[in-house]
Amino acid sequence: MVRSVINILDLSVEEIQDLIQTACDIIDHPRDYDQLCRGKKLATLFYEPSTRTRLSFEAAMYELGGNVLGFSSGQNSSASKGESVADTARTVSCYADIIAMRHPKEGAPYVASLHSTVPVINAGDGGHNHPTQTLADLLTIYREKGSFNNLTVGFCGDLKFGRTVHSLIAALSRQAGLRVVLISPVELKLPSYVKKDILKAQNIPYEQTTDLQAALPELDILYMTRVQRERFFNEEDYLRLKDSYILTPGKLKNARPDLCIMHPLPRVNEISVAIDSDPRACYFKQVLNGKYMRMALILKLLREAGTL
Ligand code: NCD
Repeated sequence: MVRSVINILDLSVEEIQDLIQTACDIIDHPRDYDQLCRGKKLATLFYEPSTRTRLSFEAAMYELGGNVLGFSSGQNSSASKGESVADTARTVSCYADIIAMRHPKEGAPYVASLHSTVPVINAGDGGHNHPTQTLADLLTIYREKGSFNNLTVGFCGDLKFGRTVHSLIAALSRQAGLRVVLISPVELKLPSYVKKDILKAQNIPYEQTTDLQAALPELDILYMTRVQRERFFNEEDYLRLKDSYILTPGKLKNARPDLCIMHPLPRVNEISVAIDSDPRACYFKQVLNGKYMRMALILKLLREAGTL
């Protein structure tokens, strides 16, 4: 079976380091890469809204000299007629060399990978995982901090449904000296399966709190997240919880001067726009880094599949 990336742990620490090296080389020498995927096609199958992930996948393929086809909503595809993900994956394998899929149901890209004859990349599955956002996050951390060792990382907001959080915790759990601070309302705590399978299994020291202000001074990285409205069962709960944390310049008073403020975006209210000009704001760097890491991943998977 051809290799897909469904979970960030499908990639070893060494492979991620190689992807980072490739991404850095692309940044320095873009011309060396701009024809490598000539004649190849990426299909973006997005059953959920997206700006950055879908467009950065598409930009990545264009910058490699390749082409793109796909859909940006299940409503525009035969899913609306009742077609299964399995049949769609099998069909699209006939037209494209690689697939990036986002789906509201956890596990859908995995099912697609079982039926596709070309590599499938999970571009976000429900409240589960988002491995390529993690690649963007890791390149950002690497470029800001120079290493992944001995970091204290605070995750703040919707840790229950925030798939970017689950994937980044999994990736960082393999690095030495990690400490995690989980900052969320009680209702939006990190799922116990992530605590058990990742944090406890790897003996990562972690604490849970509702108090962002108290946690802030010790953090090297603050990873803010949006409350995931689309995953709530009722609007009332969303409205009650949506503004639980709003980062403003005043609240950064006791933060480290070298704090790295991250957010996968889209932001709603979690980070005041007044912070955008603070040198510690890294969220728009993540956006750009995502494109380079997706370029590196597309190259790797196409090479392993024997397509390049
Ligand atoms: C995230 C997602 O889709 O999970 N967005 C992204 O891909 N950058 C975060 C979010 O939607 O809140």
